[in-house]
Amino acid sequence: MELNNKTILIGITGGIAAYKICELIRKFKKNGANVRIVCTPNSLNFVTKLTLQNLSQNEVYIEEFDVKNWKPEHISLADEADIMVIAPATANTISKISQGIADNLLTSIACAFSKKMIIAPAMNCNMWNNPIIQENLSKLKARGIEILEPESGFLACGYLGKGRLCSLDKIFNATVECLNSSQKLKGKKVVITSGGTIEDIDPVRYISNYSSGKMGKAIADSARDMGAEVVLITTKDFEAPYKITKVKSAIDMQNALNDEFESTDILIMAAAVADYRVKNYSVQKMKKGSEDNITLELVKNPDILQGLCERKAKDSSSCIIVGFCAESENLLDNAKTKIAKKGCDFLVANDISRKDIGFSSDDNEVTILDKNGGMNKIEKASKKVIARKILEFITK
Ligand code: C5P
Repeated sequence: MELNNKTILIGITGGIAAYKICELIRKFKKNGANVRIVCTPNSLNFVTKLTLQNLSQNEVYIEEFDVKNWKPEHISLADEADIMVIAPATANTISKISQGIADNLLTSIACAFSKKMIIAPAMNCNMWNNPIIQENLSKLKARGIEILEPESGFLACGYLGKGRLCSLDKIFNATVECLNSSQKLKGKKVVITSGGTIEDIDPVRYISNYSSGKMGKAIADSARDMGAEVVLITTKDFEAPYKITKVKSAIDMQNALNDEFESTDILIMAAAVADYRVKNYSVQKMKKGSEDNITLELVKNPDILQGLCERKAKDSSSCIIVGFCAESENLLDNAKTKIAKKGCDFLVANDISRKDIGFSSDDNEVTILDKNGGMNKIEKASKKVIARKILEFITK
């Protein structure tokens, strides 16, 4: 029984998909969970309290001021649950939660809930595509709430589009994964770099690369889920429930890393750092002259990773250092040379010649090399899955 001794608080809101949650409750119960249910008053237009009560074998909570014991329900239900799953989540409830509005029992609990929360939205496709709803969802994601995106298909309102509640298996598996996720990194500080550095030429021009920063961000999210104190040093605009230090150039990134390194237990350098920067930055915008060709002189950036590996050896630090290498040819041969040269504990090799993985893509496929010559391939998967596997592998 995967869910023995776990209390799952299901929040049901007023959408037609509410009827599907009856099956989900059964699945959670069959796997040993204690299921508690809180409904918005509107949801009871689609499913009855009696059905939910029978299936969950627990009282169903709806009214905020229907107080049965000394502790307010929105606090005791939040305290007792290991996880809160809101499914289906309407545009209305999503928006209220994202703004901190607590005007019924479900939204009050969500406001007081400090553990892991999963939200599975379901709504008409035009509502889903409304930029306000997408903005509200982004806010929730930035707070560490997992959003299980709806699927596309025939919707109950007669439309064809994205908005159908994701499969119950997906909600079930995400819940099990969250509840069973190891807190292996509790008490550890993990520093991750992400994104391509930006090397200014003049006030309007720069040299950079196509790195999206997504792989590093996925690793940072996973490390946080595994209990770590996370610092993400990135060139991108991310929001997350952990420390983010925004940097621009390789030199900025090096300074930020130097500040964090001493107290770092695991350093993962997923950023695409420019190898060269402009030698003479022009304070004024460079003017077009009569020349057909001009030359921009570049100087080498410090190899931050190699420098930190040297500092680790000098200080006899126990920090685990992981580098990344992006190659467009001879991936493994280049990676083997690189791990030896840089002196890191692990090197994650990425093949950037493939369009379906790597830069900007949501998927990746990597091989992890270790300093003793070992190699471990992680087959193509979402960057989220790859991130989790990388962390599990390096902490084995
Ligand atoms: O040498 P290469 O750029 O392929 O090495 C990639 C790894 O080294 C990445 O982990 C990257 O973050 C890091 N790096 C660095 N400083 C540089 C260039 C790359 O730390 N100047």
